[in-house]
Order: sequence, then C-alpha cells, then structure tokens
Amino acid sequence: MNQLDGGKKSRIAILASGRGSNADAICEYFKDHDLIEVAIIMSNREEAGVKNVAIEHHVPFKWHSNQDFKKGIPVLETLRRYQVHYIVLAGFLRKIPDEIIKSYSRRILNIHPALLPNYGGKGMYGQNVHKAVKSSGDKETGITIHFVNQEYDKGRVIFQSSCQIDPEDSPEDIAKKVQKLEHKYFPKVIESVIESGRSTN
Ligand code: GAR
Repeated sequence: MNQLDGGKKSRIAILASGRGSNADAICEYFKDHDLIEVAIIMSNREEAGVKNVAIEHHVPFKWHSNQDFKKGIPVLETLRRYQVHYIVLAGFLRKIPDEIIKSYSRRILNIHPALLPNYGGKGMYGQNVHKAVKSSGDKETGITIHFVNQEYDKGRVIFQSSCQIDPEDSPEDIAKKVQKLEHKYFPKVIESVIESGRSTN
C-alpha cells in the first residue's frame, strides 16, 4: 500500500522563519482543496510572523530550536507525528538536515527569490538577494522553485518566472515584484508536483 492510501489527502508541512506571506498564500490556496492540505507550520523562530498565519488559518504551529534543526531527529518526529508527505520551505533560513532530506527525497520544495543559479548559496536570502540584484544592474530577476538536496539552492529546478527591473527600482521595490510572483505561482507549483506524485505512486 502506498503512503497516501487511496483517497487520503496529501499533507504538507510549511517551514518558515519570517513574516510568512508565502505560507499565507499557500494556506489560502489549499484551504478547501480536495487532495492537499496544510498539516502543520513549523519554524525555528518562536515568535516569527508566520506563527500568526498559522493561528489565522487554524493550522497547528510547532517551534523547533536551531539545535533541533541541526540534529534532525526531533524535527523528523514531528513530521511523522503529523503524517506529513511533503515539506515546503517558504522563507526558511536553516539548512535541512540529511536525515530529513533522505526521508523526504524529492518531496521537499524550496522557493528562492531570484533566478538560480544566480544569487544563490549561503547567505543569499531575502533582502540580501534583492540588494545584490540591484547592485548588479541586471534588467530582470524572478523566482525559482526547486527540489532541495544537501547543497544550498542546488536541487533540480522545477519552475522559474521572471519580472523586469526598472532603473529606479529600489531593493524593496524589487522584493515586492518578486513576492507577487511567489504568491501567484508557488501554491500552483506545489499542487502540480504533489498531484503528479500521486498519479505515479
Ligand atoms: C521569500 O521571498 C522567499 O523567496 C525567501 O524568503 C522570503 C520569505 O518571505 N526565501 C529565501 O530567501 C531562501 N533563500 P515570506 O516570509 O513573506 O514568505
């Protein structure tokens, strides 16, 4: 028997460290979905904005310390307790431990606020990315959704979408354009990855 056991919904864990605007868009998108549900939101920051997103959407919220995220096993136990099938990183700023990557092979998705392989790697998150893009003078940026493997921002790319940068755009303006793309596409890409996984399981 496969783990989704016929008609049961696929259960997502959202991992986030910040404000949680992507988590909000994902919860909203899947709230009445026939096949997919948000099982839990997890964070390494006890008071991250994403905690309020969980409360607003009546989704369980679980904080784990950075130590737990380093060890992996305590986090894996929570994922198992909540019967999570897919992990979605939505502004999650810790490295995912190997135990979790092994247990969730090809079932962890990350969103990155630039067109990888550009502006990826350690330290490249949030506003750091948009500042680097701004100072490069690039005329476009965008989003990348990819599977997660052992190396930061190196897993197979699933989807990219781009937007124009105007010369007068500040890093904050660029961030706004990028987040618009994130909210528009991330839930749909999650849906399509999970649905194609269900049909091949
Ligand atoms: C998003 O823009 C996401 O792409 C980025 O963090 C932001 C979280 O925003 N992730 C990274 O930089 C990962 N390297 P949110 O908390 O409002 O969803």
